[in-house]
Amino acid sequence: MSVLLIAGSPSAPSRSSALLEAVAHRLAQRRVGVQRLPVRELEAQALLHGDFGSASARQAVERVARARALVIATPVYKAAYSGVLKAFLDLLPQTALKGKTVLPLATGGSPHHMLALDYALRPVLQALAARHILPGVYATDAQVALAPEGAYQVHPDLAPRLDDAVDALVEGLGPPLPHGFAAVPFAQVRCSV
Ligand SMILES: Cc1cc2nc3c(=O)[nH]c(=O)nc-3n(C[C@H](O)[C@H](O)[C@H](O)COP(=O)(O)O)c2cc1C
Repeated sequence: MSVLLIAGSPSAPSRSSALLEAVAHRLAQRRVGVQRLPVRELEAQALLHGDFGSASARQAVERVARARALVIATPVYKAAYSGVLKAFLDLLPQTALKGKTVLPLATGGSPHHMLALDYALRPVLQALAARHILPGVYATDAQVALAPEGAYQVHPDLAPRLDDAVDALVEGLGPPLPHGFAAVPFAQVRCSV
């Protein structure tokens, strides 16, 4: 079991994928194994037709099932996450994220849509039964700039937020919580009213 990195941009090179790679780098430093799933490389017809039975869709669903945790990166498109990411999430079974920790990442042209992770992506992850959705990391295009050699580079200003996010993710890789809550003896019950 490893962490599955899902790149939700239709573009390459991609700023949101660069942010994802910054997380991958930090996970590697912590000796956490990662796998990559760029949604743009899935069979287009499977995505467009919602073809659950296609080999491409079944393999991707299986990879999600095997992952202990996911990092999902998306560009902001029209104040939400990308359409190709939605097409992929629609192929997943209803409880595909059960028991899993998810770290959402996004890049956008300006800070104005930084809440898209919370109002657009988070409810979908919740509907897919994610156990724990970590606070997301949002970066503007100015913070993920194109370097002269043609690759996107994440600005050092983002380092503390990425470090915190990866620390929380690694913490979430611990053993799954037991089902339900342990009974609390009545004598220990506290009430604040
Ligand atoms: C079709 C389209 C719609 C976009 N809509 C928004 C938007 O609503 N808000 C925003 O902040 N940026 C918007 N952007 C800018 C992208 O979110 C931004 O450039 C992002 O970093 C691209 O990530 P990528 O390189 O991983 O695809 C849009 C870009 C495109 C191509």
